Amino acid sequence: MNRFQLGLGAAIGISLVGVLAAQILATEPNSEAASPIYGVALPEGFRRWEMIAPALEAEPLNELRVVVGNALAVKAYESGTLPFPDGSVLVKLAWKRVPSPEFEPASIPGQATTVQVMVKDSKKYSDSGGWGFGRFVDGKPVDRLQHQSCFSCHQARVQNHDFVFTRFAK
Ligand code: HEC
Repeated sequence: MNRFQLGLGAAIGISLVGVLAAQILATEPNSEAASPIYGVALPEGFRRWEMIAPALEAEPLNELRVVVGNALAVKAYESGTLPFPDGSVLVKLAWKRVPSPEFEPASIPGQATTVQVMVKDSKKYSDSGGWGFGRFVDGKPVDRLQHQSCFSCHQARVQNHDFVFTRFAK
């Protein structure tokens, strides 16, 4: 091996290390984007997921809401499968309810308020019914304290429905 070959080998070696490092960095989960306690992030592409049902919260928040699910969750709803299989993800989007400026009795979505996520992983989240929770405002997770109440409310009221409130709107 001459000097040139050695140099070339070293250069290739160094650039391979660079590529590997870049890949590791790219796949490293961004902890700032994940919820406290559960480490749940906003799922990719959820805005294009199928609707499970709309919801309305009259008091005190006055919000319009939509619950959507990934393909696994939708399939479970369609077949009436409970508990939801691992990998199911449900997302609830919410907006302030605003009267339509064109027709007062109708409502339109105003400012977006929160996006909430539930991810099913029965092993990882065995302490919370198999669900990991995440609540986001402006794309960022809210604090730990707010995440402490997620499971207790879902557990108290819908334990017999795999901790999920929303039923399929047919
Ligand atoms: C005081 C009760 C309560 C608390 C606390 C609560 N939820 Fe919910 N959640 C509900 C209700 C009721 C629904 C049904 C949809 C609706 O009316 O908005 C719901 C629906 C959801 C859904 C859609 C799936 C389903 O179960 O219907 C997700 C996702 C969700 N909540 C996530 C969260 C997260 C994340 C937190 C904590 C930050 C949280 N929830 C805290 C009551 C609660």
